[in-house]
Amino acid sequence: MLQEKQVVLSGIRATGKMHLGNYLGAMKNFVDLQNTEGYQCFYFVADYHTLTTNPDPDELKTNLPGIVLDYLAAGIDPEKSTLYAQSSVPELAELCLLIGMVTPIGELMRCPTFKEKARKQPDNVNHGLFTYPVLMAADILGPKADLVPVGEDQLPHVEITRFIANRFNSRYGKVFELPVALMEKAIRVPGLDGTDKMGKSEGNTIDLSDSADAVWEKLRVAVTDEQRERRSDPGRPYLCNLYALHEFVSLTDIVKAIDEECRSATIGCIDCKKKLAENITAILDPLQQRRVEIAKGPDYIRQVLHDGGQRAREIIKETVAEVRQKMGLIMY
Ligand code: TYM
Repeated sequence: MLQEKQVVLSGIRATGKMHLGNYLGAMKNFVDLQNTEGYQCFYFVADYHTLTTNPDPDELKTNLPGIVLDYLAAGIDPEKSTLYAQSSVPELAELCLLIGMVTPIGELMRCPTFKEKARKQPDNVNHGLFTYPVLMAADILGPKADLVPVGEDQLPHVEITRFIANRFNSRYGKVFELPVALMEKAIRVPGLDGTDKMGKSEGNTIDLSDSADAVWEKLRVAVTDEQRERRSDPGRPYLCNLYALHEFVSLTDIVKAIDEECRSATIGCIDCKKKLAENITAILDPLQQRRVEIAKGPDYIRQVLHDGGQRAREIIKETVAEVRQKMGLIMY
């Protein structure tokens, strides 16, 4: 008997330049899953979600193809994966409305990402921000995804999705499988400012477009173990964000050596940063080269998004029809 493929789904907002956190926490895993037997992958640019922070419309229009270029440069193959813009599937907005009927507001109010966003943009706590996890649940449940590869910060949203799917199934009869996050790969890449998350709005990122010089300039001034004032002071790699970055980008032997040499003060922070800059640049270089090659044909991006949007729509439409039918809605 033919084994059914597992459905993989994930998205990235079009908030501007992609950073190393997005790449290591999400996109790199998207490519690995696409290239593994047994998975059918859906990847998209979450442009509806991007609107929750009210971006400039013209910026959104240029940022979206930029993210698609990043997807393609990282190795997403539109022949293998369905690659689309979220807003090209308006059925997702309907699904969000329908599953919202089984979502208690308490769940949304408790959501840590909502609390954080409300703190960061107190003058713009809009309805879209509040229902962000419901739309994300629609994204995931639309193609009935089994597996959701995301960074650690998104895990609460996958939990809410499971809650909603479960509620819906028990109230109306089974429509949804319960999706799971790709837990073993759900990492949190720390920022260059000593905080625990690299993020665009925090201004503490290494961007995928950064040149070798730009990477070095950012790392040179990046925060390390603040107690290590002189080169002769023994360091505490387990408290240092740059050591954590080494763990994500450097080979095991190098990480081990850095750990020992930092603790024994055999190397200083600058030596450690130089090695890190080399290893990060080695990841970014090929991505940047491929991006330039693909960027030569702007019509190509449009075509990829058009085809992907159509494919995604066909599948998601079926789910929405099933949900409408279960809920007693008739198209008159
Ligand atoms: P966004 O654009 O904020 O982030 C895209 C992906 O990058 C991951 N990420 C990180 N991973 C590790 N360390 C970091 N410092 C870091 N910063 C970002 C995020 O965890 C995410 O996986 N809500 C999603 C977009 C979305 C979505 C979905 C994802 C909309 N609908 C459905 C999965 C399924 C987001 O905030 O993306």
